[in-house]
Amino acid sequence: MSFAFGIGIGTQNNKGEWLEVFYQLPVITPDNGLIEVARNVLGYQGGNQAIAVKPEQLKSLADGLRQIGQMEQSTLAAKAADSKRPVVVTLLDTDDTASSTPEVYLKLHLISSRQARPHELKLDGIFGLLPNLAWTNEGAVDLNELPDRQLKARIEGRTLEVKSVDKFPQMTDYVVPKGVRIADTARVRLGAYVGEGTTVMHEGFINFNAGTEGKSMIEGRISAGVMIGEGSDLGGGCSTMGTLSGGGNIIISVGENCLIGANAGIGIPLGDRCKVEAGLYITAGTKVALLDENNELVEVVKARDLASKTDLLFRRNSQTGAVECKSHKTAIELNEELHANN
Ligand SMILES: CC(C)(COP(=O)(O)OP(=O)(O)OC[C@H]1O[C@@H](n2cnc3c(N)ncnc32)[C@H](O)[C@@H]1OP(=O)(O)O)[C@@H](O)C(=O)NCCC(=O)NCCS
Repeated sequence: MSFAFGIGIGTQNNKGEWLEVFYQLPVITPDNGLIEVARNVLGYQGGNQAIAVKPEQLKSLADGLRQIGQMEQSTLAAKAADSKRPVVVTLLDTDDTASSTPEVYLKLHLISSRQARPHELKLDGIFGLLPNLAWTNEGAVDLNELPDRQLKARIEGRTLEVKSVDKFPQMTDYVVPKGVRIADTARVRLGAYVGEGTTVMHEGFINFNAGTEGKSMIEGRISAGVMIGEGSDLGGGCSTMGTLSGGGNIIISVGENCLIGANAGIGIPLGDRCKVEAGLYITAGTKVALLDENNELVEVVKARDLASKTDLLFRRNSQTGAVECKSHKTAIELNEELHANN
């Protein structure tokens, strides 16, 4: 069984290097028949390959795919034969470290189309394969070619709008998953996994390889690698710590039905039904006074000892300044939970 397949329409720079690729119908674990047709028509020999294809090849591909009943892919191949932009067929035998830009784009599409979940795919080394580009109203432009394109547009009486300069494009120019609301589309990168029922408000942000399981109100930032559980809300401007730059190596996640208050932040994973007071940033090393159901001090612990535990409320005592964690559990239950692995 092969790992992934996609017919993509992309952009190349003046040197013929791939800048980006749009896959309308990316597929994870494609049918053997589909791979067989690619083998016959494109001379695909197996392994992970991104094959630049010509219109005649696409027509033959469309015929072959139609014969095996792959009607959607067949229609796509037939339409792509008329493309003014270069077309690539990407065939990945295994989920190995990517070796080309079209491969990386296929993997990012698989996540955003919810065919693969964050952390499921091998994404090491992708930064080196994603060129930093100008994302314009006329598509992706190589930064070295931008001044000429800007001038050309002006001379022709147009303005080339540069919407962003980044390695990742916004997700919605490639994939709009079902059942989501995204107020400011620039704030969700391709490679984000946005669960059905999620609303991302203007302050919300979702990085690649990160996202939400389902119904959520996202008004804060979901860093790369972070996953937010069903029914959890991120308050305005809050932060979930990533692992990419100085955030440590704990992978942050948020359980179900949690609330992270406005301007708060977490550097530990949260279990289900936890709340973090507005404005409080809990880092892994934060010393926390753990209080039982009667507000009695059980123990002072580091926040990392409370990682993934359920039903906790974190707050900064407004009179003493100490960070407190309140639980509905008894002191005995909390002690048992904390020292279970001692
Ligand atoms: C932390 C938080 C969840 C607590 O809310 P709550 O559970 O409803 O608690 P309450 O405000 O009713 O307070 C309960 C008691 O704790 C006290 N208390 C609350 N926060 C406190 C603090 N930081 N320090 C000391 N005491 C505090 C209250 O004064 C109250 O005392 P009382 O029992 O004597 O009346 C809430 O303050 C919060 O920050 N919510 C986040 C909301 C948010 O940001 N949403 C996103 C919007 S974009």
